[in-house]
This record gives sequence, structure tokens and C-alpha cells, in this order.
Amino acid sequence: MRRFRRKYYDVFSHFYDAIIALHSRDRRAYLRRFLLKKAGVKEDTRLLDLCTGTGAVPLAAAEIISEKGLIVGVDFSCGMLKQAVRKAGERKHPRLFFVLADVGELPFPRATFEVVTCSHAMYELDPETRDRALEEVKRVLAPGGCFAMMEHCEPKNPFVRLLYRLRLASMGSPENRAFARDERPFLKRHFREVKRLLSPTGGSKLLLAYV
Ligand SMILES: C[S@@+](CC[C@H](N)C(=O)[O-])C[C@H]1O[C@@H](n2cnc3c(N)ncnc32)[C@H](O)[C@@H]1O
Repeated sequence: MRRFRRKYYDVFSHFYDAIIALHSRDRRAYLRRFLLKKAGVKEDTRLLDLCTGTGAVPLAAAEIISEKGLIVGVDFSCGMLKQAVRKAGERKHPRLFFVLADVGELPFPRATFEVVTCSHAMYELDPETRDRALEEVKRVLAPGGCFAMMEHCEPKNPFVRLLYRLRLASMGSPENRAFARDERPFLKRHFREVKRLLSPTGGSKLLLAYV
């Protein structure tokens, strides 16, 4: 199953940015900046982005974090990371890296990062991997660190809402659907404090969790 999902993302990586651009236009860049601002990212922050895909969050972070900090994007799809590396090549940030790894087993020492982000991906993980990933986030976060994850709210437009519900229904596990509806009870199992904010556009929710 995991191999199949990886292959699926390898294929999807060729169209991913084009599809996102079709339905989100410049809102995507705006939301990344909102995520990074609320997570408290500064010039010297050490940031890890989980399920980084084609690198949207690390590339937005590279506009804030200088060579005093560190930016790492992790994904298990080679295809997605190839796109991320290609885009990062144009940016030439000295402390921006992409690592091929499963989020359930992060190859970093304890307390390496001040901020861990994850955008539009946590709800797709199978429940066991998600639990392991959240434990890993806690391990790699420095004391007082912040885990910031962004997800879609249920769309208001009836047609888009139908597509969103079909997508959730296709995810099989009832736990995944419960997670997508309200992430807070799941995050509270792992973190000391959890806050939920809505994006100014109203279409996305931001969860901030602290160790
Ligand atoms: C919907 S994309 C989101 C990409 C990116 N965060 C964004 O906002 O554009 C989900 C990503 O999660 C990655 N992924 C899924 N399961 C994973 C796992 N167990 N470990 C690492 N990456 C995973 C996929 O390869 C894919 O790139």
C-alpha cells in the first residue's frame, strides 16, 4: 500500500504544481506566508517541513530564513523531491535541503528544529503513520518549539464541497475522516497546547501545537 502511494505521488509530481495553480492561484503563496508568520519563523529559525511535496513551504521559508537558520523539506516521493530540488536550484539558498524519508521515521537527532510545518498532507497519512509522525515531530522539536499544520476547511461552494467529501470518503479510514473534520483531539494526544486559527481567506485552517 505504501509503495503504491509513493508511486502515485511520483506520477502526480509531474502535474502537481499545475493542478494546484489552477484552483488556488496566488492564494497558495499567501497561505504559506500566513503559516510561517503564525509559526513564528524568523531569520535564524531551524525549520523542518513534512510531506514537503514540490517544496512550496521551504521555498516560501527561504524568503525569511537566512544562512543563520536551516530549512529542510522531507518527502518519501523521489518524483516530488526532484521537482522541489529543481525549483530550489533557481533560488540558491545556502541552507536549504531536501531529504528523502518517511515522516514516520525522521532521520534527525532530538531537538534539531524550532519549527516543524506540514501543509495539506497530515489528513492523508494512514492513522498509524500519522501517530508515529506526530511522535517524531515531538522528538525533533526543541523545547518550546512549534508544530504548525495547515489543512483545507470544508469548502462553502456546494460543488467543491461535494468533491471534497468524495475525496474524504475515498480515504477509507473513518479515523482519517474524523481527523480531517477536527484535528485538535488527535494533536492533543501528543502536544501540551493546541490552537486553531482560520486563514483570512476562510478556506484553510491552521493548527499550532506546542511541545
Ligand atoms: C498533497 S501533497 C502536499 C505537498 C505540500 N506539502 C504542499 O502543500 O504542496 C502530500 C505529500 O505528502 C507526501 N507523503 C505522503 N505520505 C508520506 C510519508 N509517509 N512520508 C513522507 N512523505 C509522505 C507525498 O509524497 C506528497 O508529496
